[in-house]
Amino acid sequence: MGYRSIITALSASALVLAGCGGSSLGQSGGGQSGGEVKIGLLVPLSGVYAPLGEDMRNGFKLYLDQHGGKLGGRTIKLVTADEGAGPQTGVPAAQKLVTQDQAAAVVGVVNSATALGLRDFFHESKRPLLVANAGADDITGARKSDYVWRTSFANGKVGAALGPAVAEDAKGGVYLIAADYAAGREMVGGFRKTFEAAGGKVAGEKYTPFGKTQDYQPYLSAIRASGAKAVYTFYAGAEAVSFVKQYKQFGLAGETPLYGTGFLTEGGVLDAQGEAAVGVKTSLHYSTELDTPRNKEFVAAYRKAFNEPPTVYAVQAHDAAAVLDKALAKAPGAEGDALVKALGGVGPIDSPRGQWSFDADHDAQQKYYLREVRSKDGTVVNAVIRELK
Ligand code: BEZ
Repeated sequence: MGYRSIITALSASALVLAGCGGSSLGQSGGGQSGGEVKIGLLVPLSGVYAPLGEDMRNGFKLYLDQHGGKLGGRTIKLVTADEGAGPQTGVPAAQKLVTQDQAAAVVGVVNSATALGLRDFFHESKRPLLVANAGADDITGARKSDYVWRTSFANGKVGAALGPAVAEDAKGGVYLIAADYAAGREMVGGFRKTFEAAGGKVAGEKYTPFGKTQDYQPYLSAIRASGAKAVYTFYAGAEAVSFVKQYKQFGLAGETPLYGTGFLTEGGVLDAQGEAAVGVKTSLHYSTELDTPRNKEFVAAYRKAFNEPPTVYAVQAHDAAAVLDKALAKAPGAEGDALVKALGGVGPIDSPRGQWSFDADHDAQQKYYLREVRSKDGTVVNAVIRELK
């Protein structure tokens, strides 16, 4: 059974379950104004993206702790479920949050394939989903829904932001390589469009089995044989650690500059890569190194709470809590349609990444930065080079 059939079957059975619950779907999780509101947090606690899920949980919890456990004046009961490695686990976990736990809204989702698998369920059950990472382009594009909102990014936009900069820097053809699933293909697709429009030439393109590849040596050999003068990539989590370390061990780091979307060198991934990542350039909408009072305050609070620096994943989930805080204040009943209407009126979010707002498709309209991994005070950081246009 392919991804699509599994998802359709799961969505159908959950909607039947929801139907058995009678009228509760439209009201539960919120109830009368003033009472407790249940929010579902769906993040990977297992699989290659488990550390990203942990960061998101920390980011959301930090916002709650900073606001006395309340959003919009309502006490929040957070119910967490494991997204796991993809839609086979993530879709039923989300459905349980809505139909069984009666969450008024669900926040989270790391993997694009999970987000695509969840879209119809949230659309049909009229319950808000706040995607706080997964970048699947269609979620805020061809398959946008009144009930799906995103506090993170669209895959194609993060890749597109870097295209012109690499076309300008590269001394010849660029090799494109990424994890073989929606996020990898879209981050390459977005990059390719702006890169070629700016005069860049592609030297080769390869997609590696997602969640299964540990040895990148055959791919690195192909890159060298292609004569490429630079490489652009998307990997995140454990795959990003392996790819960057092996890129260095294979000897490519000294000769062929490595570019990617910022997930390649973010957070715990960068710690694990260490000096092997120095010089890697990426595009992203956040860095711990952003020199603003709002970010400094956030980094200090996050370090104090969790004894480590924050990541883009933590920021996206922290901002999802900020969005719900504003929306619940406007929709005290926390009911699906009233909450969705309130989401449309939250206005600008004062985020550690800089101020951003939802666009007409419910995607985050924000700045992207060119970052470079540099050594600093005995560690490695994503230094901010400039804003990308
Ligand atoms: C995604 O699947 O959309 C994704 C996963 C990890 C980092 C960035 C994007």
